[in-house]
Amino acid sequence: MRTALVTGATSGIGHAFCRELAERGNDLVIVARHRARLENVSDELRARYSVNVEILAADLSKRAQLSRVADRVADRDRPIDLLVNNAGFVTGMSLLKGDLADEEAMLDVLCRAVLVLSHAGARSMRERGRGHIINVSSVVGFVPTSTYGAAKAWCTSFTEILAHELSGSGVSATALCPGFTRTEFHERADLDVSRLPKALWLEADVLVRDCLDDVRARKVVSVPGMQYKVLAGIAQLVPHRLVRAASGRASFRRPKR
Ligand SMILES: NC(=O)c1ccc[n+]([C@@H]2O[C@H](COP(=O)([O-])OP(=O)(O)OC[C@H]3O[C@@H](n4cnc5c(N)ncnc54)[C@H](OP(=O)(O)O)[C@@H]3O)[C@@H](O)[C@H]2O)c1
Repeated sequence: MRTALVTGATSGIGHAFCRELAERGNDLVIVARHRARLENVSDELRARYSVNVEILAADLSKRAQLSRVADRVADRDRPIDLLVNNAGFVTGMSLLKGDLADEEAMLDVLCRAVLVLSHAGARSMRERGRGHIINVSSVVGFVPTSTYGAAKAWCTSFTEILAHELSGSGVSATALCPGFTRTEFHERADLDVSRLPKALWLEADVLVRDCLDDVRARKVVSVPGMQYKVLAGIAQLVPHRLVRAASGRASFRRPKR
């Protein structure tokens, strides 16, 4: 790898990808909405790892801004060798209690942006005969939970079919399916995860290293953490109606105000 473009680079899993990739000597193009945070990350990466960092401030739920990022991904003169579609957020866990516009914006980031950027990346990488795409999905995609979970199910399935279409081209596609990971994700959505057992939590730095090992091994679906490998395996083996019944009972609680 030489240049990686990471969306959602200013926090959590995306930030961990940037640090790990920079440590391995890759230049970076970093994408998120807030320019000040992008500049902080850029300063940190340049100072600590002496790599080149380009900033692209963009809201991926907005078509025109997404197109700008897609143009950068497709730029033949400044090739992107690794695309990490990581940006994401969750609106909450109830469609009926939530705001439809928020749900649509979430799908735009979790699905539309992944589709558009993967399309741009896969075409230009295939022309060059090499490259990698990582789409950050989630283990919740293996069980029906919410529109967020449905979007992640799409992301995993989409990446599997993308990997199939790219086979033999020198380009790989991997869906990264983490479980609960300590980032800003739950706080931003006001989700109370305080009662979750410690054993369920993953560390972003560790899962990113595991994912890059899986990319090197050409794995199409990367599930970090033994606890989630087991859970994902069970979800795929037991009858789907039982998975649906169990996931309906699992709930996230918002803090009382
Ligand atoms: N944390 C978990 O437990 C967990 C588990 C499974 C999967 N995931 C997935 O992992 C990915 C990263 O999440 P995280 O946990 O690292 O969350 P995070 O700490 O909240 O980071 C989210 C990143 O996405 C950016 N972002 C959010 N909305 C955006 C938009 N509309 N346009 C462009 N950038 C946007 C944010 O920056 P700005 O706010 O500046 O835009 C930030 O850099 C997501 O796809 C999430 O669904 C997370």
